[in-house]
Parts: sequence; C-alpha cells; structure tokens
Amino acid sequence: MKVAIIGGGPAGLYAAILLRKQRPEADITVYERNRADDTFGFGVVFSDATLDNFEKYDLPSYRRITQEFAYWDDIAVHFRGTVHQVGGNGFCGCSRRKLLLILQERARELGVTLRFETEIDDEARLADADLVVLADGINSRFRERYADHFQPEIDVRANMFAWMGSTRPLDAFTFIFQETEWGPFIAHAYQYEAGRSTWIFETDPETFARAGLEGLGERESADRMAEIFGWFLGGHPLLTNRSMWRNFPMVRSKRWVKDNTVLLGDAKASAHFSIGSGTKLAMEDAIALADALRDAPTVTVGLERYEQGRREEVEKTQHAADVSLVWFEHVDRFWDFDPVQFAFGVMTRSKAITYDNLNLRAPDFVAEVDRAFARYVHAKGFDVDVERPVAPMFQPFRLRDMTLANRAVVSPMCMYSAKEGVPVDFHLVHYGSRAIGGAGLIFTEMTCVSRDARITPGCAGLWNDEQEAAWHRIVDFVHANSAAKFALQLGHAGRKGATKLMWEGMDRPLEDGGWDVVSASSIPYFPDSRVPRELDRAAMDKIKSDFVAAAERGERCGFDMLELHCAHGYLLASFISPLTNKRDDAYGGSLENRLRFPLEVFEALRTAWPKHKPMSVRISATDWAEGGITGDDAVQVARAFAEASVDLVDVSTGQTVRDAQPIYGRMFQTPFSDQVRNEARVATMCVGNITSADQVNTILAAGRADLVALGRPHLVDPAFTLKAAAWYGAEGVFYPPQYQPGKEQIFRNSVRDRQEFEELRIKAKPKTRAELKAEATKPLAAE
Ligand SMILES: Cc1cc2nc3c(=O)[nH]c(=O)nc-3n(C[C@H](O)[C@H](O)[C@H](O)COP(=O)(O)OP(=O)(O)OC[C@H]3O[C@@H](n4cnc5c(N)ncnc54)[C@H](O)[C@@H]3O)c2cc1C
Ligand SMILES: Cc1cc2nc3c(=O)[nH]c(=O)nc-3n(C[C@H](O)[C@H](O)[C@H](O)COP(=O)(O)O)c2cc1C
Repeated sequence: MKVAIIGGGPAGLYAAILLRKQRPEADITVYERNRADDTFGFGVVFSDATLDNFEKYDLPSYRRITQEFAYWDDIAVHFRGTVHQVGGNGFCGCSRRKLLLILQERARELGVTLRFETEIDDEARLADADLVVLADGINSRFRERYADHFQPEIDVRANMFAWMGSTRPLDAFTFIFQETEWGPFIAHAYQYEAGRSTWIFETDPETFARAGLEGLGERESADRMAEIFGWFLGGHPLLTNRSMWRNFPMVRSKRWVKDNTVLLGDAKASAHFSIGSGTKLAMEDAIALADALRDAPTVTVGLERYEQGRREEVEKTQHAADVSLVWFEHVDRFWDFDPVQFAFGVMTRSKAITYDNLNLRAPDFVAEVDRAFARYVHAKGFDVDVERPVAPMFQPFRLRDMTLANRAVVSPMCMYSAKEGVPVDFHLVHYGSRAIGGAGLIFTEMTCVSRDARITPGCAGLWNDEQEAAWHRIVDFVHANSAAKFALQLGHAGRKGATKLMWEGMDRPLEDGGWDVVSASSIPYFPDSRVPRELDRAAMDKIKSDFVAAAERGERCGFDMLELHCAHGYLLASFISPLTNKRDDAYGGSLENRLRFPLEVFEALRTAWPKHKPMSVRISATDWAEGGITGDDAVQVARAFAEASVDLVDVSTGQTVRDAQPIYGRMFQTPFSDQVRNEARVATMCVGNITSADQVNTILAAGRADLVALGRPHLVDPAFTLKAAAWYGAEGVFYPPQYQPGKEQIFRNSVRDRQEFEELRIKAKPKTRAELKAEATKPLAAE
C-alpha cells in the first residue's frame, strides 16, 4: 500500500506513525513544505484523557511526549485586581516544536519517509498513491481546490488574536481579563516547559483598532501587549514567532472524503483555541483514521467508516469550542459582574464543568460564589444568610410584590386534557402536586383566550365562567397547600390552531371538527394545514379584548402573575417573526412594526392586570432558520417589552417554522437567556433540556438567568425541587405538614448519600499524570 500525506503537522505525522505500525509493509511518505525544525507556535495542551489515548495507540511516542511535558492542575482567572485559582483540572503542556520533533523521530524509526521543504501543489504527482491524506492545515489548499466536493464552511470570527510566547513561569492555566483605555484585552496563557509559556492575546475588533494595533509589526504589537500585561509579566519578555494578529476561522466541511483522499486535522475542521483542542483533534483524527482502515476491505470503505465514525465527536468538540469562543467574544456582557461570579462564568462557559463538579474540586471557590450570590440577594432587600448561604437555586427572588421562595419553575405545559376549555380533575392533581413538589413558581399551560384561540380541542381556556370557576379551584388549592406562586400563561394558537392532540399528531390539522384559523399572514404551517386568514384591524381588536377579558378572569381566580405567550409560532409570535409575517401594513416589515400588535396586547394587559402583580412575556429568541429571528433580534424584542414594563422575559426558542434546524443539547437555549439578560438588562427565565439541580445552580451562579424553568423533568418528577433541597441541605424549603416525616427522612439520608457520592467520585477519579509524576519523583525516605 502506498500512502501520501501532505502536511507534516501533528495530524499528518501521527497518521503516518499509526498507519505504518498497522501496515509495516506500507510505503508512507509525508510531504512538508517547511524544514524539519521550522515550526510556528509555542506550546500545545492535552488533557489527561487525550494522553490516555496516546498511551494506548503508540507507547514510545507517548513516553517521549510525557517526559517533556509541563503539568498543571489549576486554572487561574485574573479580573479587576482579583485572582481566583481553581484546582482539579489536570492538563499538560508541551512545546509544539518538541512534539513535532518527537513525532518525526518516531515516524522515521518506523520507516516512514519524511520529505521536508517539499511543497505539494499538484496532486497529480501523488497519482500512484492508494491513499492520499490531506493534513495541510487550516488554510488547506486542497480542501479549497475541491471546495465543490468538500463543501467547506468557514466562519471567520470577529475577534482578533495573536499567538506569542514568554519566559514568564506559570503554575496554572491563566486567563487575564484586562481593562485598558481602549477596551478589554484577554490573555490565555500556560507554561509548556521550564521557562517557557504560550500567550494568546485576544480582543474585539473595535478595541484592536482603538489600541492602534492595525498595521503594527510583530515586535511593536508584542511591545504593546507587554505594556498592557507588564504588571503580570514582571519583566519577562514576550517572544514572537509568526505572531501576526488574525481572526480565527471556524472551519467545518460537509464532506471529508473524496475517492481515496481524506481531510485530516485542521484541514477538515478547526476548534477555537480557548478550549485548547486543535492539536488534540488533529491527533485523534489520525487515531480514528487508523482504526477505520484497520479491518476495512478497501481504502474507500475505510475512509467512509472514518467519516461516519468520527464526525459526531468532532462536531461535539466544535460545538463546545463555539460556545466557549462566543463567551469570549461577548466578555463585555459580564464586565460589571462580581469577580467571583465572573470567574465562575469563565469556568463553566462551555458546559463541561458545573457547580457540583467544581464543588468537589474547589469547595472554597464555590462557597465564595454562593456568598457573592447571597450578597446580591441580600442587597435586593432579602434577609438571607450571607455567611453560610444556601445554593443559588434556593435563594428567593422578587418581581413587583410577588416573592418566590426559590428559583425553580415548572414551565408551561399543555396537558391537552381540558373539556371544552375547562380544566378538570387531572389539572387539579397535576398542578397541585407540582406546587407541593416545591418549585417556587408554577405556570399554567397555554390557556386560550377564546374557543378559536385553542391549539387543540384538549386545550384549556379562560373565556367563560365555568372555566374561571375550575381555575379558581386549582389556584386556591395551590395557595392553600404550597408556597408556590402560580402564573397564568395566556395565548392564542394562530395558524397552529385546530390541530390534533399531542399524542395524535403534534401540529397536524384536525380532520374533523376544526375551526377557522388566523395569523399575521396567510401562510399555512404545513402545506396541508388550514390556510390562516390574515388578521384585519377589527379582528385584532377583538383578540386584544379577548386577552384582556381572560386576564380579568385570571385576576379573579387569584393567579399571582401573568405571562403573554409570544413564542413558538403561535399568533403573537407569527407577528414577530419575518418568516411568518409578510404584511405590508403598519404591522409588518421592520421589527418595530412586527412588534406593534404583540406590544399593543401586552400594554392592554398591563393596564388591566393589577399593578402590584408581575407580568412576563415568552419569546422564541431564535427561529433556528435562515432569515428568521436571531439572538440579536431577541435582545431588541426584550428591550421593547422592557420599555412596556415587562418584569421577566421567558426565553424559549423555535417552533416557528417546520423546517427549522435547532441545535439541541444540554441547556441548549441558555445562551439566548444569557444574551437577553446581559445585553438587554432584563430579568430572564431560561428553559430547555435542563435536567438537574446542578445545572440550575450552574446557570444561576453564572448569571445566565434569574429563574430556571424545567418542563419535561417535572412531568416525571413533581418533587424535583424538594429532592434538590434535601441534596443541598436547603432546610427552609416548604413542605406541607402532611409530608413532614418524608422531609425529615430525605434530609437525614441526603447528608449521608451526598457524602458517599462525593467519596465515590473522588475514589473513582483516576490519578492525574501530575499526581503520578509527583509520586514517582518522591524520595523514598518520605514514604
Ligand atoms: C500561527 C499559529 C500558531 C499556533 N500555535 C499554537 C500553539 O501554540 N498551541 C496550540 O495548541 N495550537 C497552536 N496552533 C493551532 C494548532 O497548530 C493546530 O490546531 C494543529 O497544529 C492542527 O494540526 P494539523 O496537523 O491539522 O495542521 P498544522 O499543524 O497546521 O500542519 C499542517 C502542515 O501542513 C504543511 N503544509 C500545508 N500545505 C502544504 C503543502 N501544500 N505541501 C506541503 N506541506 C504543506 C504546513 O507547513 C504545516 O506544517 C497554532 C496555529 C497557528 C496558525
Ligand atoms: C407536553 C408539553 C407541553 C408544552 N406546552 C407548552 C405550553 O402550553 N406553553 C408553552 O409556552 N410551552 C409549552 N411547552 C414547552 C415547555 O414549556 C418547555 O419550554 C420545553 O418543554 C423545553 O423545556 P424542557 O426541556 O425542560 O422540557 C410544552 C412542552 C411539553 C413537553
């Protein structure tokens, strides 16, 4: 077998090593345009998990790599004169140059031919190869040459960055967030060998321009950085090596394989430097390629297997990198945060690290985060314990005169079980048990303002006395038996009306017994859905008065809060999204026009709803579709409602159009809540695939939302909050007297369960290489 590899970076060299080990008879050549010891960059980082992989796949290179490594366990965050150092992270750093020399040496030992100073421009000279590996880096010439086939997408990010080095020793992966007269600068720095550290400087384009970095040479810009970070460098110089400022390109390719040719490493997909995974991804690609080719009957089959097997892992890493880079791009959102909350946000930005997880590794840090949160709550007038505070989830929250005992919320969820809009016993038990279950706030399902406003025949309503009486009974039960507050969500289905019950076909049109539907524009949801009638002014007035009448009934029922449903493609949402609003009157066109009717309804409700009771609005902060609402629009939408005196924005996403492409994942909508809260400066509630109290605390402590709603988790576990209270020892949580013995037992057991869990986690955690190395070098006498 003849293998030609273009590019002698980590991907190309490691692929050569693994393929040659697997097929000692193979004729493998690596073509590299640079000289053997000619390399850009300073250090690279690997996690313990990545090193485990290297150990398994090639022990000799693993040994040499680990002999050369610097280890650290801590991450340090410097911000506004403070430093927070968090342990338990287990990372290793190595010089990129040494890494490449080790890989070259190992490849040579195995019989790989290395051809340096050989630039491949015409792949025709590789025509006799059975396999061609394109490991030619982030600007891959061959990926671009066959762009029609590989279909690369290159998202050039706005922030500017430059890679430099220093002799400054560091004992932690160090982030420095530095205010300057021009704006914020960020340094990402780590040591990779004795007396050498990598420094990546990052800033937004405006700050870059204001700081006069545009057009400066390598040395001058390093001098400028040395001035800014001089207080930390302590006289150590900044070193340069092709340290030009540039924008990071996020590379994704639809296809990685073309006949017998395959893209590897940065050439196929890049990952932002802030999660330190570029070299790791490149080398793990080589592992995946070797694995896929091992038993493949032909090269083509092997390459197909590589692409199929590897894509998900790469996309997951890229998603984590995306979330992380967006955090750094929007660091100004958090600039006025308490430094410890800021540091918590840095630590938890890409979702891998959470509140509980940090509590195990750095309990003092989390205790400080809790105290800062409690101080903030105390400053809002609550008499909470600031010295020994409860976890953020159990801190109270106030909206107008409504005080919530904790920040867990039961999200609005249609039960599709009402009879002619009247809630029945199912609803009493459903809402009653979730209120007793301890959430600070529970929402009704979307409650429809008229018969024709219903989504399905099973939807609840509030347009007649019978419905009012039934809701009144449920509200009374909740207030009499729990500490939960109860919010009424009012909505109108719009073009998604007259559809089947969820379990009979979500959003599918009713075959019999339907009714006429209306929307901002006459566009059906599915091609075979009912075609909605475009609302005229008279119909808009009628609907507005239906909302007001329902709110007045809601007040008589005793609800504590009112939410206007402007999300998920229902009537009011259909006005806001440009995908569903094609009107050419004062209610269509600009975002300001599209918001006009939803705001009119909101303002009418705000007038009708008692002043001391709060109101929220639910929005879809993105349509997840080309040409639809984006996070930036959502900030404008939130600002407009804030001007109309909304108290809370309930940040959901999507369900506007059926061909949307949401990116699901843990806490997938939280970034939108973060953006709305910290850019529009309104209180927010986030929701969406949040399944544990640990995640609730992570979100709250990082300042990404004020309240956290859970939908589906509450369907299976009404007592989600009570259980979490026991776990975190939040004694103050309300239990009805009937359930006191249960409370005593779970609180007693939880202390032990938690101790056992933590001991198990600590025991199960493999020793980091830093610990193993420390043990190995410990003098025997000290044993
Ligand atoms: C300026 C810079 C500095 C960096 N510094 C660091 C750092 O300090 N730490 C870190 O972790 N990561 C760093 N990175 C990122 C990291 O290098 C990559 O994520 C990783 O190296 C990807 O490995 P790769 O093998 O896919 O590509 P690369 O390492 O980019 O290797 C591609 C190789 O292909 C060669 N090549 C390209 N075209 C041809 C051709 N036509 N013919 C022959 N040879 C060709 C190139 O010379 C290069 O050696 C840096 C990136 C850049 C651009
Ligand atoms: C069965 C069900 C019914 C729902 N009904 C409503 C509703 O009436 N109003 C609303 O705004 N959202 C509704 N939603 C969306 C939820 O409020 C929530 O945003 C969504 O389920 C995501 O949160 P989760 O991942 O915690 O479930 C519903 C969700 C489910 C699962």
